[in-house]
Amino acid sequence: MDLLPEIVNRVTVRHFEERGIDPACLDRILEAGRIAPSAKNRQPWRFIIVQDERKRKMFEQASFGQEHVGQAPAIIACCSTNIEYRMPNGQLSYPIDISFAATQMMFQAVHEGLGTCVVTTFDEAALQEILTVPYSMRVVMLLLLGYAAHTEPSFRERLALERIISYEHW
Ligand SMILES: Cc1cc2nc3c(=O)[nH]c(=O)nc-3n(C[C@H](O)[C@H](O)[C@H](O)COP(=O)(O)O)c2cc1C
Repeated sequence: MDLLPEIVNRVTVRHFEERGIDPACLDRILEAGRIAPSAKNRQPWRFIIVQDERKRKMFEQASFGQEHVGQAPAIIACCSTNIEYRMPNGQLSYPIDISFAATQMMFQAVHEGLGTCVVTTFDEAALQEILTVPYSMRVVMLLLLGYAAHTEPSFRERLALERIISYEHW
């Protein structure tokens, strides 16, 4: 099947080299997030880039000791700037919008040769305090970025296509 190599080859990386990310490369990743689609084009996001080692260690603690969080040379905290807007179908838009932006950044990062890990297992209040996020806003997810020190073998355990699709009705 002719799929994008970034999609086929991406795996979650949880062991990072120490070396940081070239600022121009980071800019391209952020640009990929900036141009992401969002409901009504509201763009309800703010991306906070964290590279400071002390802060990354605080993030590790706030993520219940997940060592890869502190090890990643750069973390993009994907935050909301509006948590109220509901789409006409009644669903909140911000988790979806921010997931699209994070996904675009993730694949740009893979394209740049970086490893990535999405993290949502964290004490949100602790992250809000570290980042001075207003209480009315949410930290939706962290995107860890860095050069992979090694990747765990990926077994690509996914449900078979026939289990997750159907045509014309459920
Ligand atoms: C919404 C979401 C939340 C996740 N949260 C975490 C997390 O807190 N910590 C972590 O190490 N990995 C986390 N992951 C990574 C998943 O465990 C990983 O994507 C999944 O096991 C499939 O493996 P793969 O990415 O290598 O294909 C998360 C992924 C997603 C999409």
